[in-house]
Amino acid sequence: MGIGKGRGKSILFGEHFVVYGLPALAAGIDSETVAKVTRKDKPGWSLDDDRPATPGYKEKKLDEQKISINNIIDHVGLDISEQGIHIELGGNLICASGIGASAASCVAIARALNDEFDLGLDDEKINEAAYEGEKGYHGTPSGIDNTASTYGGLVWYERNLDGGSPTFKRIELDDPVSLVIASTGRTASTTEVVGDVRRKREENPEWFDNIADEYKSLVQDGLEALKQHDLKRVGELMSRNHELLQELTVSCKELDNFVDIALSNGALGAKLTGTGRGGNMISLPPDKPAGDKIAAALEGRGAATVLRTTFG
Ligand code: MEV
Repeated sequence: MGIGKGRGKSILFGEHFVVYGLPALAAGIDSETVAKVTRKDKPGWSLDDDRPATPGYKEKKLDEQKISINNIIDHVGLDISEQGIHIELGGNLICASGIGASAASCVAIARALNDEFDLGLDDEKINEAAYEGEKGYHGTPSGIDNTASTYGGLVWYERNLDGGSPTFKRIELDDPVSLVIASTGRTASTTEVVGDVRRKREENPEWFDNIADEYKSLVQDGLEALKQHDLKRVGELMSRNHELLQELTVSCKELDNFVDIALSNGALGAKLTGTGRGGNMISLPPDKPAGDKIAAALEGRGAATVLRTTFG
């Protein structure tokens, strides 16, 4: 049996903007998806998906998941036309939009195949295979999710719009940073939401460019503030990033409500994370007691799940 793991992720700055080549910052979180691969006599692949998930998530993603698994198997060059494989997915990552669940499963499956069939793939190749898998979930992934999932830690990421390799680097922080993450329980379609933003951008490039121009300096400031552990500034920038995402029309009333709850319970900043229009919100507590208070408030006011994580 081959085993592989992939981490969930949280985008601190730059979802959607990253699709158009702007830099973004993402952090791997502590929860992960685990894939187990065994060989079987029948051709093809079969799947037991036992990952914990928000209701409806797995059903909604099923068709995309099939394309994704086929993409990964093709990409690593595995012939399953005679002897097939059985894949089991589990782990403690609660699958929901915005937490990198699709990328985590792609990384986990690529690693489990690598383990079972001695494919000799290093992290770079695993990340490439997971990127092909991510294409199953939406045709034009930026690659930030699979990169954060493969490497963990804090990652500065820039997509190469000419189709070449992306630029990314791991950022080491002197002090770890904590997040409180709340799930709306609503599953969003990344294909749809990314497609909507693309259409709006094509219809009105000036509108998009104005928002993107502000974002460009925001993310640079965000990186500096993180390096200096200036959490107050990081929080302000997160909240402003959320407003820019509202302008892109990718927030929703549940996410806006969670942002308000987090801020009014002491968070230094809060924003949607990932695709938006459902999925997850991240907030930045100044310290552990504030984190407890924010988490309790979100739990009491409609969050499907609340997760605490640290990065850096
Ligand atoms: C999804 O987690 C992040 C998006 O920016 C899409 C992508 O980067 O591929 C919305």
